[in-house]
Amino acid sequence: MKQASKPDITPIISLGGLTPEVFLRDYWQKKPLLIRGAIPDFQGLLTPEALQKLSYQDDAESRLVTRKDGHWKLKHGPFAPRDFSKLHQQNWSLLVQDINHFLPSARNLLSRFRFIPHARLDDLMVSFAPEGGGIGPHFDSYDVFLLQGLGSRRWQISAQRDDEFIPNLPLRILKNFKPEQEWILNAGDMLYLPPHYAHNGIALDDCMTYSIGFRAPSHQELITQFLVYLQDNLKADGRYTDPDLKAQIHPAEISSEMHEQVNTILKKISWNQQNIEDFLGCYLSEPKPHVFFDQPDELLDSATFLHKSEESGIELNLKTRILASTGKIFINGEICKVDPIAYLELINLANNYELAPSDLSSHTRNILYKWYASGYLTLKKNSS
Ligand code: SIN
Ligand code: CO
Repeated sequence: MKQASKPDITPIISLGGLTPEVFLRDYWQKKPLLIRGAIPDFQGLLTPEALQKLSYQDDAESRLVTRKDGHWKLKHGPFAPRDFSKLHQQNWSLLVQDINHFLPSARNLLSRFRFIPHARLDDLMVSFAPEGGGIGPHFDSYDVFLLQGLGSRRWQISAQRDDEFIPNLPLRILKNFKPEQEWILNAGDMLYLPPHYAHNGIALDDCMTYSIGFRAPSHQELITQFLVYLQDNLKADGRYTDPDLKAQIHPAEISSEMHEQVNTILKKISWNQQNIEDFLGCYLSEPKPHVFFDQPDELLDSATFLHKSEESGIELNLKTRILASTGKIFINGEICKVDPIAYLELINLANNYELAPSDLSSHTRNILYKWYASGYLTLKKNSS
């Protein structure tokens, strides 16, 4: 039987001499960690101009934060060149989410953090700010690694409990930020912050920061989405009946018998372990609302696709989200139940975002062709 190669989850990034186990035990979700030279000689992945161009695209989520004479403004993209032409007299910062949807090198950067499960990973956000720019003191609800690219940034952080925001601003800026520690980060340095840790980053020159962000849905979000899932997946027989109906003094009044019967009916709402697995896989692999997949421009027929894939291998579309659990593969919000051999092959694809020709078997042919036709994966480009 074909064996999936054991995934290598060694971080391809320095954690300041810590093993992933020690980092996760002592820092993850607990306390900040400054790592000098996390990626020595990190040159960044794109220029400020390329970031700006990405912000013109309507499939990129971008924000422009400006501050003039103490007045903060927030504008959402897509932007046009004229949005950047009048910024010289103010502090500003451009932030673009999901850079991993556009640059293979950005997905490779995220792969360096594979010691944290994919289900927790959100995206790579990149910001640019000229000297003095920043988005003000704030905290995030998520864990984040802030990796410095171009230039340098002063980071100030605080464990303060005071989370009062300045009222009536378009972004949430802490009213009473009291920095407790600060450092200047240069290219390749990285700061890990757990959720709700107050921070403020000020660009010291033309500065690009790479935020590796994680997702942790709120309980409200999980419950709401699970109820949506149940709505689509729950089948209930029967209909309201009242063969013993009595006339009422107030015909407009809902009777206690009716309440009781509805209460009994609602107790039919139930779920099992499989529902939880299916819901979570679909929910976590669901593309963000602005993400769409197109069929390949020139759709190959199945035999040609398979023949070519045996030569070049395949790779996932940068926008594809793929997760696996208990014999099921979840891809872009869809569930795919597969046999154990196919599961090993496809989990390998999910772990590594690609499969070499030698990793492909006949078990997954139909599935891979269907995903290719849906735009979820392509033939690997850089091999002949
Ligand atoms: C930035 O890159 O300017 C801000 C990142 C953050 O504070 O999370
Ligand atoms: Co932040």
